[in-house]
Amino acid sequence: MAKMWTGVTDGVTSKIADDFNSSISFDSKMFKEDIEGSIAHAMMLAKQGIISNSEKDCLIDGLSGILEDLSSGKLEIDLSAEDIHMFVEQVLTERVGETGKKLHTARSRNDQVALDFRMYCKNRASEIKDLIKDVLRSLVYQAEKHSATIMPGYTHLQRAQPITFGHHLMAYAMMLLRDIKRFDSAYQSADVCPIGSCALAGTTYNTDRDFEATQLGFSEVCKNSLDGVSDRDFTVDFISACSILMMHLSRLSEELILWSSWEFKFIELSSDFTTGSSIMPQKKNPDMAELIRGKTGRVYGDLTAILTTLKGLPLAYNKDMQEDKECLFDACDTVKACLQVLAPMLEKMKAIPENMLLAAQKGFINATDLADYLVKKGMPFRSAYKISGTIVSECIDKNTVLEKLPLEEYKKHSDLFDSDLYKEIDLLTCVEKRISKGGTSVKSVISQIEYVKEFIND
Ligand code: ARG
Repeated sequence: MAKMWTGVTDGVTSKIADDFNSSISFDSKMFKEDIEGSIAHAMMLAKQGIISNSEKDCLIDGLSGILEDLSSGKLEIDLSAEDIHMFVEQVLTERVGETGKKLHTARSRNDQVALDFRMYCKNRASEIKDLIKDVLRSLVYQAEKHSATIMPGYTHLQRAQPITFGHHLMAYAMMLLRDIKRFDSAYQSADVCPIGSCALAGTTYNTDRDFEATQLGFSEVCKNSLDGVSDRDFTVDFISACSILMMHLSRLSEELILWSSWEFKFIELSSDFTTGSSIMPQKKNPDMAELIRGKTGRVYGDLTAILTTLKGLPLAYNKDMQEDKECLFDACDTVKACLQVLAPMLEKMKAIPENMLLAAQKGFINATDLADYLVKKGMPFRSAYKISGTIVSECIDKNTVLEKLPLEEYKKHSDLFDSDLYKEIDLLTCVEKRISKGGTSVKSVISQIEYVKEFIND
């Protein structure tokens, strides 16, 4: 494509330089936003009397046709164009003639690219929020099924206290709710309209920036034109939100990987979300969860890339800023792909409550409750603690658990033991006693589920 910026230069550049300079191979992703922005610009120019109404109609017809043809695939992106903005304007001029050349009045590619990119971020933030809600729905579905399924809760990856599987899953739901808020905030930070800042200093034309912003669904316009063309904070906010979300997905993935190992066997992932091994027929590998964990690294890389690119830039636009796109596109596409695979994988995951219970029992995580039983019957705590400890050692020797030790064995240690002890050390009882707000009791978990459901259905 011939260059549109042959002013003092003759526009003859080396092919190597052209390829190096070009961004169309990736910024063509923003064709929809670019064309919508141009349509609003043409409307503003006509409203202000800068172009005539018939010129506006001609521009809008041309732009709408390009949008339709690009969406249907009828029009192919010409990779020899410098970027998507040049491409659209050039095709427009080819299609509608001289009037096409009026579109770029009172704007520059600097405010145009900032506009497109902000619109792109807003659209994607909304999509990501919907995808997070899908994952939340799967978590809620499993948590409802397992609001009373006992498992060991861990600290230091050592069995600590009995909790329910539902409670554990709802912890991740709370993280994802915060992620939704982060994407709301990334949306807000992108929701400031830069168009009309022009190259850097504003324009001498009598434009109406507020009208154009409203047409495009922006809440406000940027207050300083230099800031308008050089602010990329919104991309940092967006990729930060992506990174924190990925951190959460990665932690959950790590647990799915552990839980589906033979060492735990708390869950079984559905075979349509695992892979086999080419030589070990017994293998069912949690590749999807591993990939989510792995891809977290590249999203962090995207965040580091954008922060580093921006840190030394003088005002206003610098070509370095073209580097803002690939990291954001990558972070965005990666996050979406991870959420898309996680939602059905979680929904289809099968919990194995027997194994969770066995692990909870083997951890003797009700030994304190056993001591408390004796205390309630009048024994001093220190003595009760000692007896409880001795009984735990006996169970370990006999390869049994407190719940299964016969009453006569208990009675050897104290006459205070009676058959009601089994109720007291029952793991579900231990869980049910934890009634504090946010605790692991079934009632508390159900109210956590209700809270998340309300949020999803908002
Ligand atoms: N492709 C460019 C980018 O993504 C568009 C802005 C170009 N502006 C300029 N003055 N060269 O940043």
